[in-house]
Amino acid sequence: MSLPTRVRIVEVGPRDGLQNEPATVPAAVKIEFIQRLAAAGLPAVEATSFVSPRWIPQLADAEEVYRGLERRPGVAYPVLVPNLQGLERAMAAGAEEIAVFTAASEAFNQKNINASISESLDRIRRLADPALERGLRIRGYISCVLGCPYEGPVREEKVVAVAAALFGLGCYEVSLGDTIGVGTPVAARRMLWAVAGECGMERLAVHFHDTRGQALANIFACLEAGVTTVDASVAGLGGCPYARGASGNVATEDLAYLLQGLGIETGVDLPRLVAAGRWICARLGREPRSRLALLPEYQDD
Ligand code: HMG
Ligand code: MG
Repeated sequence: MSLPTRVRIVEVGPRDGLQNEPATVPAAVKIEFIQRLAAAGLPAVEATSFVSPRWIPQLADAEEVYRGLERRPGVAYPVLVPNLQGLERAMAAGAEEIAVFTAASEAFNQKNINASISESLDRIRRLADPALERGLRIRGYISCVLGCPYEGPVREEKVVAVAAALFGLGCYEVSLGDTIGVGTPVAARRMLWAVAGECGMERLAVHFHDTRGQALANIFACLEAGVTTVDASVAGLGGCPYARGASGNVATEDLAYLLQGLGIETGVDLPRLVAAGRWICARLGREPRSRLALLPEYQDD
C-alpha cells in the first residue's frame, strides 16, 4: 500500500457549508470565519459564490465578503462562478481564482443551474477564455459522480467525458463531487481511476458529502489510489440546496486527524481548526457535525 506524503486540503465550508445554512450569517462573521480557517493553516479556503442571489440568498453578500478579506500570502481564496455575469462580479471584487461547476447528471444540472451539461460547458467556455486571459486560475467541479438524486446511478464514462471537457476548457484541477454521499470505497476508487486514466491523477481532487457516513472511508480508498487533493468543510457544515437530503461535506477536522494519523502532511494546526469550526457553529446556534469537535478536550473555547 502506498499513500501520498502530503495532501492539500481545500476548505469549502464558507461556500458549500454556508450556502445551505438556514440562518443568515452576517458578512462580518463570514469574513472572520474565513480568516480563522486560513490562520489554521489551510492552503485554500473557498470563500463565497457569485451565483444568482435569487437561487442562493445565503451568499448574496459575496462582494462584501470577498472585499472584506485580508488575504494571507500563500493561501488561495477561490470563489464559485456560474456564468459570465458571475465572472464579472468576481473579478470586480478582486478574485484571483474561480471555480466553475457542472454535473455528470442532466437532471441535477437542470435543477442546480437551469442548463443541460452541454449548455453548462458552453457557459463555462464563454467565461473561461476571458478569465484565463486575465490570469485567473480555474478549478472545475463535477457533481453527482457516484449517483444522482433524480437519475440514480451515474456511468463512469460520463464523469470521464465531463472531466476531460473541463480540462479542455482550461481548468487546472477538477474536483469530483459525490454530492449526495452515495458512494462507497470500492466504487469511489474505481470512478477515480477511470477519470485519472484519462486526465491524470495529479490534476484531480475528491469532494465527498457524508450523507451516509462513508466519506472518510471513501477518502482513504482514494488516497490509496493516489489522490493528493481533498475537499472538506469544517464542522461538516453544509449540503446542497438542489440535492434533497444531502448533508455536509466530510468534516475538515476529522479528515485532518485521519491524515495526521497516516503520517501525511497537511500544514493544518488541528486545535485551531477545531476552534474555527466551534466558533462558526456557536454563531449558527448548533453543534459541530465533526466527531473531533465533540471531544471533551475541545469543549472549552
Ligand atoms: P437562470 O435563472 O437560468 O439565469 O439561472 P438567467 O441568466 O436567466 O438570469 C436570471 C436572473 O438571475 C437575472 O436577473 C440575472 O441577472 C440573474 P433578473 O434580470 O431576472 O433580475 N443572474 C445573476 N445575478 C447575480 N450573479 C450571477 C447571475 N446570473 C444570473 N452570476 C444560474 C442560472 C446559473 C444563474 C442560477 O441557476 C444559479 O445561480 N445557480 C446556482 C446554484 C448554486 O449555487 N448551487 C450550489 C453550488 S453547486 C454545489 O454545491 C455542488 C458542489 O459543491 C460539488 C458537489 O458537491 O457536487 C460544487
Ligand atoms: Mg459540495
